[in-house]
Amino acid sequence: MEKTLVILKPDCMEKRLCGAVMDRFQKAGFDIVACKMMRLTDELLRDHYAHIADKPFFPALAEFMGSRPVIVAVLQGQNVIARVRELLGPTDSTKAPKGTIRGDYGTDVSVNICHASDGTDSAAAEIKRFFKAEEVFA
Ligand code: TYD
Repeated sequence: MEKTLVILKPDCMEKRLCGAVMDRFQKAGFDIVACKMMRLTDELLRDHYAHIADKPFFPALAEFMGSRPVIVAVLQGQNVIARVRELLGPTDSTKAPKGTIRGDYGTDVSVNICHASDGTDSAAAEIKRFFKAEEVFA
């Protein structure tokens, strides 16, 4: 069984869309095997976004992601990494088709409702970054 990490971002929290977003994941057949609420520190964000830390948009992104507590969760199921990315739609919400989570609820390329791991290696690293082994009920 594959696992992926999702973060319900500050805009998802502010718009009270956590239930709607989780509902899509659950209706697609995926199980929540870990879940917590936390405020992302600068240190965590530098780690999580290490691959884009040199981009000009990083400071604004880090400020947004740390602007209020978020919900971090691990989802489990067959092909969950790719399927959850499909359910989200492309990074830029303005280009995401209606029917995708970002297309229906997102604002733009930064304010886009939900993060999801983009591959097997990143999923494993991200789950480890946010959860202790005993917090994952897989
Ligand atoms: P990326 O890994 O390219 O997208 P995804 O979230 O779909 O995996 O980018 C990570 C995050 O960086 C993205 O969710 C929002 C932010 N971002 C910006 O703020 N501006 C940008 O131009 C891009 C490409 C990303």
